[in-house]
Amino acid sequence: MSYNIAIDGPAGAGKSTIAKTLAKNLSFIYVDTGAMYRALAVFFIRQGLDKDNEEGICAAVKNATVTIEYKNGVQQVILNGENVTPYLRTEEVGNMASASSVYGPVRAHLLELQQSLAHENDVIMDGRDIGTCVLPNADLKIYLTASVEERARRRYTELVEKGENPDIEKIKKDIEERDYRDMHREIAPLKQADDAILVDSSNMTIDEVVETIASHVKKKR
Ligand code: DC
Repeated sequence: MSYNIAIDGPAGAGKSTIAKTLAKNLSFIYVDTGAMYRALAVFFIRQGLDKDNEEGICAAVKNATVTIEYKNGVQQVILNGENVTPYLRTEEVGNMASASSVYGPVRAHLLELQQSLAHENDVIMDGRDIGTCVLPNADLKIYLTASVEERARRRYTELVEKGENPDIEKIKKDIEERDYRDMHREIAPLKQADDAILVDSSNMTIDEVVETIASHVKKKR
């Protein structure tokens, strides 16, 4: 039987950093489901579809095949045979992913792939609906969050380190909008599962968060 850890939480809470480290420490596979939604978003953008064009997006999704592979342990997302991993982490793609993931056929399109990965492997899977919808029977569920101010500050620092000149108020506003949309959509909204452990990373270092979650893994295994 595979061991499944679900980590859900809002954008910028540190899910992927934490999940990657934990996966390495535990020799689990890290599955980034946000990257799958982002790959579909790349497809919709390339098709010239507007994020509000529900009919167009729901029709187009049937022509997108998303799979994942691992290169030196790092997840690669393949869209219709092309490795689109380098194009996933832009604001445009993130916004399209958040907007298009509200549509049922878009979510249904990725569900089977996510569930079969977890069935066949020990995984740490992060996203918005992993503990509530994708893996309701996960062995351990974590809801990882942080204040909007702290998440905006982290994103700001990241962009400054990349040599950009970001506006922190704009970053904060984008995060608030993304949170609202992810939490209030009709299908599979972001929320803490009843049996998830809440971890607020606002005042914690990465190591402290990893340690905290690892201690729960030990208790459960
Ligand atoms: O985690 P991320 O920023 O890469 O996710 C991008 C968007 O994808 C997010 O705003 C909402 C959507 N998403 C989702 O609806 N369900 C998931 N399990 C993961 C991501």
